[in-house]
Amino acid sequence: MDNFNFYSPTYFVFGKSRENEAGDYVRKFKGTRVLIHYGSGSVVESGLLARVKKSLANAGIWFTELGGVVPNPRSGLVYKGIEQCKENNIDFVLAVGGGSVIDSAKAIAIGALYDGDFWDFFTGKKIVEKALPIGTILTLTAAGSEGSSGSVITHENGILKRATGGEVLRPAFSILNPELTCSLPPFQTACGATDMMAHVMERYFTNSKRVEISDRLAEGILLTVINEAPKALANPLDYDARANLMWAGMVAHNDTCGVGRLSDWSTHQMEHELSGLYDVAHGAGLAVMFPAWMKYVMKHDVMRFAQFAVRVWGCSMDFQEPENTALEGIACYEKFVSSLGMPIRFASLGARAADIPVLVKNLGLAGKTLGNFVKLTEEDVTKIYELAV
Ligand code: NZQ
Ligand code: ZN
Repeated sequence: MDNFNFYSPTYFVFGKSRENEAGDYVRKFKGTRVLIHYGSGSVVESGLLARVKKSLANAGIWFTELGGVVPNPRSGLVYKGIEQCKENNIDFVLAVGGGSVIDSAKAIAIGALYDGDFWDFFTGKKIVEKALPIGTILTLTAAGSEGSSGSVITHENGILKRATGGEVLRPAFSILNPELTCSLPPFQTACGATDMMAHVMERYFTNSKRVEISDRLAEGILLTVINEAPKALANPLDYDARANLMWAGMVAHNDTCGVGRLSDWSTHQMEHELSGLYDVAHGAGLAVMFPAWMKYVMKHDVMRFAQFAVRVWGCSMDFQEPENTALEGIACYEKFVSSLGMPIRFASLGARAADIPVLVKNLGLAGKTLGNFVKLTEEDVTKIYELAV
Protein backbone atom coordinates (compact mmCIF):
# COMPACT_ATOMS: atom_id res chain seq x y z
CA MET A 1 0.00 0.00 0.00
CA ASP A 2 1.27 3.51 -0.88
CA ASN A 3 1.70 6.39 1.60
CA PHE A 4 -1.26 8.76 1.76
CA ASN A 5 -2.89 11.79 3.39
CA PHE A 6 -6.66 11.76 3.74
CA TYR A 7 -8.58 14.91 4.62
CA SER A 8 -12.36 14.73 4.34
CA PRO A 9 -13.76 17.41 6.66
CA THR A 10 -17.33 17.62 5.31
CA TYR A 11 -20.10 17.47 7.93
CA PHE A 12 -22.80 15.16 6.51
CA VAL A 13 -26.45 15.62 7.46
CA PHE A 14 -28.35 12.60 6.15
CA GLY A 15 -32.04 11.68 6.07
CA LYS A 16 -35.64 12.73 5.57
CA SER A 17 -36.52 16.43 5.65
CA ARG A 18 -33.02 17.45 6.71
CA GLU A 19 -32.97 20.34 4.19
CA ASN A 20 -35.16 22.23 6.66
CA GLU A 21 -32.06 22.51 8.88
CA ALA A 22 -30.04 24.33 6.17
CA GLY A 23 -30.10 27.64 8.08
CA ASP A 24 -28.70 26.01 11.24
CA TYR A 25 -25.79 24.51 9.32
CA VAL A 26 -24.95 27.71 7.42
CA ARG A 27 -24.82 29.40 10.82
CA LYS A 28 -22.74 26.57 12.33
CA PHE A 29 -20.16 27.11 9.59
CA LYS A 30 -20.16 30.90 10.10
CA GLY A 31 -22.07 31.93 6.97
CA THR A 32 -23.81 35.30 7.36
CA ARG A 33 -24.32 36.49 3.76
CA VAL A 34 -25.20 33.64 1.43
CA LEU A 35 -25.42 33.11 -2.32
CA ILE A 36 -27.93 30.33 -3.00
CA HIS A 37 -26.99 28.68 -6.30
CA TYR A 38 -29.26 26.32 -8.25
CA GLY A 39 -30.07 24.82 -11.64
CA SER A 40 -32.65 25.16 -14.37
CA GLY A 41 -35.83 24.73 -12.38
CA SER A 42 -36.23 21.33 -10.69
CA VAL A 43 -35.68 22.80 -7.20
CA VAL A 44 -38.18 25.58 -7.87
CA GLU A 45 -40.85 23.16 -9.11
CA SER A 46 -40.35 20.73 -6.21
CA GLY A 47 -40.65 23.51 -3.62
CA LEU A 48 -37.18 22.69 -2.28
CA LEU A 49 -35.79 26.17 -2.95
CA ALA A 50 -38.66 27.77 -1.03
CA ARG A 51 -38.04 25.47 1.97
CA VAL A 52 -34.32 26.28 1.95
CA LYS A 53 -35.00 30.03 1.82
CA LYS A 54 -37.44 29.69 4.70
CA SER A 55 -34.86 27.83 6.75
CA LEU A 56 -32.24 30.54 6.12
CA ALA A 57 -34.73 33.30 6.93
CA ASN A 58 -35.69 31.54 10.18
CA ALA A 59 -32.01 31.41 11.13
CA GLY A 60 -31.73 35.16 10.45
CA ILE A 61 -29.33 34.72 7.55
CA TRP A 62 -29.20 37.23 4.69
CA PHE A 63 -29.20 35.69 1.19
CA THR A 64 -29.36 36.40 -2.50
CA GLU A 65 -29.74 33.84 -5.29
CA LEU A 66 -28.46 32.78 -8.70
CA GLY A 67 -30.20 30.04 -10.68
CA GLY A 68 -29.70 28.78 -14.22
CA VAL A 69 -26.89 26.22 -13.94
CA VAL A 70 -27.10 23.75 -16.86
CA PRO A 71 -25.69 20.20 -17.00
CA ASN A 72 -21.99 20.43 -17.96
CA PRO A 73 -21.97 23.80 -16.15
CA ARG A 74 -20.69 26.76 -18.14
CA SER A 75 -18.16 29.44 -17.35
CA GLY A 76 -20.57 32.30 -18.19
CA LEU A 77 -22.71 31.78 -15.10
CA VAL A 78 -19.61 31.31 -12.95
CA TYR A 79 -18.39 34.80 -13.95
CA LYS A 80 -21.82 36.17 -13.09
CA GLY A 81 -21.81 34.45 -9.68
CA ILE A 82 -18.33 35.75 -8.86
CA GLU A 83 -19.46 39.30 -9.61
CA GLN A 84 -22.58 38.80 -7.47
CA CYS A 85 -20.44 37.55 -4.56
CA LYS A 86 -18.07 40.51 -4.77
CA GLU A 87 -20.89 43.07 -5.04
CA ASN A 88 -22.77 41.63 -2.06
CA ASN A 89 -19.88 40.69 0.26
CA ILE A 90 -20.96 37.05 0.18
CA ASP A 91 -19.20 34.85 2.73
CA PHE A 92 -20.87 31.47 2.00
CA VAL A 93 -22.12 29.72 -1.16
CA LEU A 94 -25.00 27.27 -0.80
CA ALA A 95 -25.48 24.87 -3.73
CA VAL A 96 -28.95 23.32 -4.11
CA GLY A 97 -28.96 20.69 -6.86
CA GLY A 98 -26.85 18.04 -8.57
CA GLY A 99 -23.16 17.82 -9.41
CA SER A 100 -23.31 20.61 -11.98
CA VAL A 101 -24.74 23.10 -9.46
CA ILE A 102 -22.21 22.09 -6.81
CA ASP A 103 -19.29 22.36 -9.25
CA SER A 104 -20.47 25.77 -10.42
CA ALA A 105 -20.76 26.86 -6.76
CA LYS A 106 -17.20 25.66 -6.10
CA ALA A 107 -15.90 27.64 -9.10
CA ILE A 108 -17.72 30.75 -7.89
CA ALA A 109 -16.28 30.21 -4.40
CA ILE A 110 -12.75 30.14 -5.87
CA GLY A 111 -13.27 33.18 -8.10
CA ALA A 112 -14.84 35.28 -5.34
CA LEU A 113 -11.47 35.40 -3.56
CA TYR A 114 -9.33 35.92 -6.66
CA ASP A 115 -8.65 39.09 -8.63
CA GLY A 116 -7.78 37.38 -11.92
CA ASP A 117 -9.76 35.02 -14.19
CA PHE A 118 -11.14 31.99 -12.30
CA TRP A 119 -10.35 29.86 -15.39
CA ASP A 120 -6.64 30.07 -14.42
CA PHE A 121 -7.41 27.39 -11.82
CA PHE A 122 -8.89 25.08 -14.48
CA THR A 123 -5.96 25.38 -16.90
CA GLY A 124 -3.39 24.58 -14.23
CA LYS A 125 -1.99 28.13 -14.27
CA LYS A 126 -2.95 28.58 -10.60
CA ILE A 127 -3.35 26.19 -7.67
CA VAL A 128 -6.51 26.37 -5.56
CA GLU A 129 -5.51 27.47 -2.08
CA LYS A 130 -8.48 29.50 -0.93
CA ALA A 131 -12.20 29.66 -1.61
CA LEU A 132 -15.34 30.78 0.16
CA PRO A 133 -16.85 27.97 2.24
CA ILE A 134 -19.64 26.10 0.51
CA GLY A 135 -22.56 23.97 1.67
CA THR A 136 -24.60 21.61 -0.49
CA ILE A 137 -28.13 20.27 -0.55
CA LEU A 138 -27.88 17.36 -2.96
CA THR A 139 -30.72 16.41 -5.32
CA LEU A 140 -28.92 13.94 -7.61
CA THR A 141 -26.70 11.05 -6.60
CA ALA A 142 -23.89 10.79 -9.14
CA ALA A 143 -20.87 13.08 -9.30
CA GLY A 144 -19.90 12.82 -5.62
CA SER A 145 -19.10 16.55 -5.59
CA GLU A 146 -20.91 16.78 -2.23
CA GLY A 147 -17.86 15.14 -0.64
CA SER A 148 -15.13 15.63 -3.21
CA SER A 149 -12.37 18.19 -3.61
CA GLY A 150 -13.05 18.62 -7.34
CA SER A 151 -15.01 20.86 -9.68
CA VAL A 152 -15.57 20.45 -13.43
CA ILE A 153 -16.54 23.42 -15.64
CA THR A 154 -17.03 23.84 -19.40
CA HIS A 155 -15.66 27.02 -20.92
CA GLU A 156 -17.97 28.37 -23.61
CA ASN A 157 -14.98 29.74 -25.42
CA GLY A 158 -13.65 26.57 -27.09
CA ILE A 159 -16.14 24.14 -25.49
CA LEU A 160 -13.38 22.81 -23.26
CA LYS A 161 -14.40 20.86 -20.19
CA ARG A 162 -11.76 21.07 -17.49
CA ALA A 163 -11.39 20.04 -13.84
CA THR A 164 -9.66 21.55 -10.84
CA GLY A 165 -9.29 20.45 -7.24
CA GLY A 166 -8.15 21.50 -3.80
CA GLU A 167 -8.76 20.60 -0.19
CA VAL A 168 -10.61 23.89 0.41
CA LEU A 169 -13.24 22.80 -2.13
CA ARG A 170 -14.57 20.02 0.10
CA PRO A 171 -17.95 21.32 1.26
CA ALA A 172 -18.19 22.48 4.88
CA PHE A 173 -21.48 20.58 5.09
CA SER A 174 -23.64 18.51 2.77
CA ILE A 175 -27.30 17.76 3.38
CA LEU A 176 -28.27 14.40 1.88
CA ASN A 177 -32.00 13.68 1.87
CA PRO A 178 -32.68 10.62 -0.32
CA GLU A 179 -36.33 11.73 -0.71
CA LEU A 180 -35.11 14.62 -2.87
CA THR A 181 -33.78 12.15 -5.43
CA CYS A 182 -37.13 10.33 -5.87
CA SER A 183 -38.15 12.81 -8.59
CA LEU A 184 -35.17 11.94 -10.78
CA PRO A 185 -36.08 10.68 -14.26
CA PRO A 186 -34.85 7.12 -15.03
CA PHE A 187 -32.15 8.42 -17.37
CA GLN A 188 -30.57 10.61 -14.64
CA THR A 189 -30.83 7.78 -12.08
CA ALA A 190 -29.01 5.48 -14.50
CA CYS A 191 -26.38 8.11 -15.40
CA GLY A 192 -25.79 8.58 -11.68
CA ALA A 193 -25.31 4.87 -11.01
CA THR A 194 -22.89 4.64 -13.95
CA ASP A 195 -20.88 7.63 -12.74
CA MET A 196 -20.58 6.24 -9.19
CA MET A 197 -19.38 2.91 -10.54
CA ALA A 198 -16.88 4.75 -12.73
CA HIS A 199 -15.49 6.64 -9.73
CA VAL A 200 -14.84 3.33 -8.02
CA MET A 201 -13.41 1.64 -11.13
CA GLU A 202 -11.00 4.52 -11.86
CA ARG A 203 -9.50 3.67 -8.47
CA TYR A 204 -9.91 -0.12 -8.66
CA PHE A 205 -7.73 -0.61 -11.74
CA THR A 206 -4.37 0.21 -10.21
CA ASN A 207 -0.78 -1.00 -10.25
CA SER A 208 -0.46 -0.54 -6.47
CA LYS A 209 -0.01 -3.89 -4.73
CA ARG A 210 -1.57 -5.42 -1.59
CA VAL A 211 -4.43 -2.92 -1.28
CA GLU A 212 -6.99 -5.37 0.06
CA ILE A 213 -8.87 -2.91 2.29
CA SER A 214 -9.59 -0.44 -0.53
CA ASP A 215 -10.22 -3.29 -3.02
CA ARG A 216 -12.88 -4.74 -0.71
CA LEU A 217 -14.46 -1.33 0.00
CA ALA A 218 -14.57 -0.67 -3.75
CA GLU A 219 -16.16 -4.05 -4.46
CA GLY A 220 -18.75 -3.39 -1.72
CA ILE A 221 -19.72 -0.06 -3.28
CA LEU A 222 -19.99 -1.62 -6.75
CA LEU A 223 -22.13 -4.49 -5.44
CA THR A 224 -24.39 -1.98 -3.68
CA VAL A 225 -24.95 0.02 -6.86
CA ILE A 226 -25.53 -3.18 -8.87
CA ASN A 227 -28.21 -4.25 -6.36
CA GLU A 228 -29.86 -0.92 -5.62
CA ALA A 229 -29.93 0.94 -8.96
CA PRO A 230 -32.39 -1.50 -10.59
CA LYS A 231 -34.64 -1.17 -7.50
CA ALA A 232 -34.65 2.64 -7.77
CA LEU A 233 -35.48 2.36 -11.47
CA ALA A 234 -38.29 -0.15 -10.85
CA ASN A 235 -39.76 1.95 -8.04
CA PRO A 236 -38.50 5.56 -8.03
CA LEU A 237 -40.08 6.10 -4.58
CA ASP A 238 -38.10 3.27 -2.94
CA TYR A 239 -36.55 5.33 -0.12
CA ASP A 240 -34.04 2.71 0.98
CA ALA A 241 -32.77 2.11 -2.55
CA ARG A 242 -32.35 5.89 -2.96
CA ALA A 243 -30.67 6.11 0.47
CA ASN A 244 -28.17 3.34 -0.25
CA LEU A 245 -27.36 4.89 -3.62
CA MET A 246 -26.94 8.32 -2.06
CA TRP A 247 -24.32 7.20 0.44
CA ALA A 248 -22.67 4.93 -2.15
CA GLY A 249 -22.27 7.95 -4.44
CA MET A 250 -20.56 9.89 -1.68
CA VAL A 251 -18.11 7.15 -0.60
CA ALA A 252 -17.42 6.30 -4.24
CA HIS A 253 -15.76 9.68 -4.72
CA ASN A 254 -14.60 11.23 -1.43
CA ASP A 255 -11.56 8.94 -1.86
CA THR A 256 -12.38 6.48 0.94
CA CYS A 257 -11.67 3.66 -1.53
CA GLY A 258 -8.87 5.45 -3.37
CA VAL A 259 -6.29 6.05 -0.67
CA GLY A 260 -3.04 4.06 -0.59
CA ARG A 261 -3.20 3.30 -4.29
CA LEU A 262 -2.63 5.12 -7.58
CA SER A 263 -5.88 5.81 -9.44
CA ASP A 264 -6.22 5.99 -13.22
CA TRP A 265 -8.76 8.67 -14.41
CA SER A 266 -8.03 8.37 -18.13
CA THR A 267 -11.61 7.26 -18.89
CA HIS A 268 -12.99 10.33 -17.11
CA GLN A 269 -10.75 12.61 -19.12
CA MET A 270 -11.68 10.93 -22.41
CA GLU A 271 -15.34 11.29 -21.41
CA HIS A 272 -14.95 14.97 -20.53
CA GLU A 273 -13.94 15.60 -24.14
CA LEU A 274 -17.18 13.92 -25.30
CA SER A 275 -19.25 16.01 -22.85
CA GLY A 276 -17.40 19.14 -23.96
CA LEU A 277 -17.90 18.56 -27.69
CA TYR A 278 -21.40 17.07 -27.75
CA ASP A 279 -22.88 18.22 -24.41
CA VAL A 280 -23.74 14.62 -23.48
CA ALA A 281 -24.58 13.53 -19.92
CA HIS A 282 -21.37 12.56 -18.10
CA GLY A 283 -22.71 9.14 -16.97
CA ALA A 284 -23.82 8.24 -20.49
CA GLY A 285 -20.40 9.14 -21.88
CA LEU A 286 -18.74 6.97 -19.25
CA ALA A 287 -20.95 3.98 -20.14
CA VAL A 288 -19.58 4.23 -23.67
CA MET A 289 -15.93 4.85 -22.79
CA PHE A 290 -15.37 2.42 -19.91
CA PRO A 291 -15.87 -0.86 -21.82
CA ALA A 292 -13.61 0.44 -24.62
CA TRP A 293 -10.86 1.37 -22.14
CA MET A 294 -11.19 -1.97 -20.32
CA LYS A 295 -10.89 -4.00 -23.51
CA TYR A 296 -7.85 -1.99 -24.57
CA VAL A 297 -5.88 -2.21 -21.29
CA MET A 298 -7.04 -5.60 -19.98
CA LYS A 299 -3.90 -7.48 -21.01
CA HIS A 300 -1.79 -5.18 -18.81
CA ASP A 301 -3.09 -7.03 -15.71
CA VAL A 302 -5.43 -9.86 -16.63
CA MET A 303 -5.62 -11.10 -13.03
CA ARG A 304 -6.95 -7.75 -11.76
CA PHE A 305 -9.71 -7.88 -14.37
CA ALA A 306 -10.38 -11.52 -13.45
CA GLN A 307 -10.67 -10.50 -9.77
CA PHE A 308 -13.18 -7.80 -10.81
CA ALA A 309 -15.15 -10.44 -12.75
CA VAL A 310 -15.20 -12.99 -9.91
CA ARG A 311 -15.74 -10.73 -6.90
CA VAL A 312 -18.06 -8.12 -8.42
CA TRP A 313 -19.95 -10.04 -11.10
CA GLY A 314 -19.85 -13.55 -9.62
CA CYS A 315 -18.10 -15.08 -12.66
CA SER A 316 -16.32 -18.43 -12.23
CA MET A 317 -12.57 -18.31 -12.50
CA ASP A 318 -11.09 -20.00 -15.55
CA PHE A 319 -7.68 -20.98 -14.18
CA GLN A 320 -6.50 -22.33 -17.54
CA GLU A 321 -7.45 -19.15 -19.43
CA PRO A 322 -7.86 -16.21 -16.97
CA GLU A 323 -8.35 -13.93 -19.96
CA ASN A 324 -11.75 -15.56 -20.55
CA THR A 325 -12.81 -14.62 -17.01
CA ALA A 326 -11.51 -11.07 -17.46
CA LEU A 327 -13.48 -10.68 -20.70
CA GLU A 328 -16.60 -12.09 -19.06
CA GLY A 329 -16.37 -9.41 -16.33
CA ILE A 330 -16.19 -6.65 -18.93
CA ALA A 331 -19.18 -8.16 -20.75
CA CYS A 332 -21.14 -8.26 -17.45
CA TYR A 333 -20.39 -4.58 -16.83
CA GLU A 334 -21.49 -3.67 -20.35
CA LYS A 335 -24.68 -5.72 -20.04
CA PHE A 336 -25.48 -4.14 -16.69
CA VAL A 337 -25.15 -0.48 -17.73
CA SER A 338 -27.05 -1.29 -20.90
CA SER A 339 -29.86 -2.84 -18.78
CA LEU A 340 -30.07 0.48 -16.88
CA GLY A 341 -30.78 2.19 -20.21
CA MET A 342 -27.31 3.59 -20.85
CA PRO A 343 -25.81 3.82 -24.35
CA ILE A 344 -22.69 1.72 -24.89
CA ARG A 345 -21.57 2.93 -28.31
CA PHE A 346 -20.63 6.29 -29.86
CA ALA A 347 -23.62 6.54 -32.20
CA SER A 348 -26.20 6.48 -29.40
CA LEU A 349 -24.45 9.50 -27.87
CA GLY A 350 -24.57 11.39 -31.14
CA ALA A 351 -20.76 11.18 -31.31
CA ARG A 352 -19.03 10.72 -34.67
CA ALA A 353 -15.96 8.67 -35.58
CA ALA A 354 -14.91 11.53 -37.85
CA ASP A 355 -14.46 13.75 -34.75
CA ILE A 356 -11.95 11.41 -33.04
CA PRO A 357 -8.93 13.53 -34.08
CA VAL A 358 -10.63 16.59 -32.50
CA LEU A 359 -11.37 14.69 -29.27
CA VAL A 360 -7.76 13.52 -29.09
CA LYS A 361 -6.41 17.00 -29.83
CA ASN A 362 -8.63 18.58 -27.16
CA LEU A 363 -7.10 16.25 -24.56
CA GLY A 364 -3.98 18.35 -25.09
CA LEU A 365 -1.51 15.52 -24.48
CA ALA A 366 1.21 17.05 -26.66
CA GLY A 367 3.68 14.22 -26.13
CA LYS A 368 2.54 13.49 -22.56
CA THR A 369 0.56 10.38 -21.55
CA LEU A 370 -2.88 9.91 -20.02
CA GLY A 371 -3.78 7.75 -17.00
CA ASN A 372 -1.73 5.58 -14.68
CA PHE A 373 -2.86 1.94 -14.97
CA VAL A 374 -1.54 2.04 -18.51
CA LYS A 375 0.10 5.27 -19.62
CA LEU A 376 -1.80 6.04 -22.82
CA THR A 377 -0.26 7.87 -25.76
CA GLU A 378 -2.28 9.82 -28.35
CA GLU A 379 -2.19 6.69 -30.52
CA ASP A 380 -3.62 4.55 -27.68
CA VAL A 381 -6.37 7.10 -26.96
CA THR A 382 -7.30 7.17 -30.65
CA LYS A 383 -7.64 3.38 -30.64
CA ILE A 384 -9.81 3.49 -27.48
CA TYR A 385 -12.16 6.06 -29.04
CA GLU A 386 -12.29 3.82 -32.14
CA LEU A 387 -13.23 0.83 -29.97
CA ALA A 388 -16.12 2.91 -28.56
CA VAL A 389 -17.48 3.54 -32.06
O1 NZQ B 1 -31.03 21.95 -13.42
P1 NZQ B 1 -32.15 21.21 -12.81
O2 NZQ B 1 -33.47 21.77 -13.17
O3 NZQ B 1 -31.99 21.04 -11.33
O4 NZQ B 1 -32.16 19.74 -13.49
C1 NZQ B 1 -31.11 18.80 -13.33
C2 NZQ B 1 -30.33 18.56 -14.61
O5 NZQ B 1 -31.11 18.79 -15.75
C3 NZQ B 1 -31.74 17.45 -13.07
N1 NZQ B 1 -32.03 17.18 -11.66
C4 NZQ B 1 -31.19 17.30 -10.61
N2 NZQ B 1 -31.80 16.88 -9.48
C5 NZQ B 1 -33.06 16.50 -9.84
C6 NZQ B 1 -33.21 16.70 -11.23
N3 NZQ B 1 -34.35 16.42 -11.87
C7 NZQ B 1 -35.37 15.95 -11.14
N4 NZQ B 1 -35.29 15.70 -9.80
C8 NZQ B 1 -34.16 15.97 -9.13
N5 NZQ B 1 -34.07 15.70 -7.81
O6 NZQ B 1 -30.76 16.51 -13.51
C9 NZQ B 1 -30.04 17.07 -14.62
C10 NZQ B 1 -28.58 16.73 -14.48
O7 NZQ B 1 -28.00 17.38 -13.37
P2 NZQ B 1 -26.40 17.48 -13.19
O8 NZQ B 1 -26.15 18.25 -11.95
O9 NZQ B 1 -25.79 17.97 -14.45
O10 NZQ B 1 -25.96 15.94 -13.03
P3 NZQ B 1 -24.82 15.27 -12.19
O11 NZQ B 1 -25.09 15.35 -10.74
O12 NZQ B 1 -24.63 13.96 -12.80
O13 NZQ B 1 -23.52 16.18 -12.45
C11 NZQ B 1 -22.79 16.04 -13.62
C12 NZQ B 1 -21.60 16.99 -13.61
O14 NZQ B 1 -20.67 16.65 -12.56
C13 NZQ B 1 -19.36 16.55 -13.11
C14 NZQ B 1 -19.64 16.02 -14.50
O15 NZQ B 1 -18.54 16.15 -15.36
C15 NZQ B 1 -20.82 16.86 -14.92
O16 NZQ B 1 -20.40 18.12 -15.38
N6 NZQ B 1 -18.50 15.74 -12.25
C16 NZQ B 1 -18.05 16.31 -11.11
C17 NZQ B 1 -17.19 15.68 -10.24
C18 NZQ B 1 -16.69 16.32 -9.01
N7 NZQ B 1 -16.93 17.60 -8.82
O17 NZQ B 1 -16.04 15.71 -8.16
C19 NZQ B 1 -16.69 14.33 -10.54
C20 NZQ B 1 -17.46 13.62 -11.60
O18 NZQ B 1 -16.64 12.64 -12.18
C21 NZQ B 1 -18.00 14.47 -12.69
O19 NZQ B 1 -17.01 14.71 -13.68
ZN1 ZN C 1 -17.60 11.05 -12.86
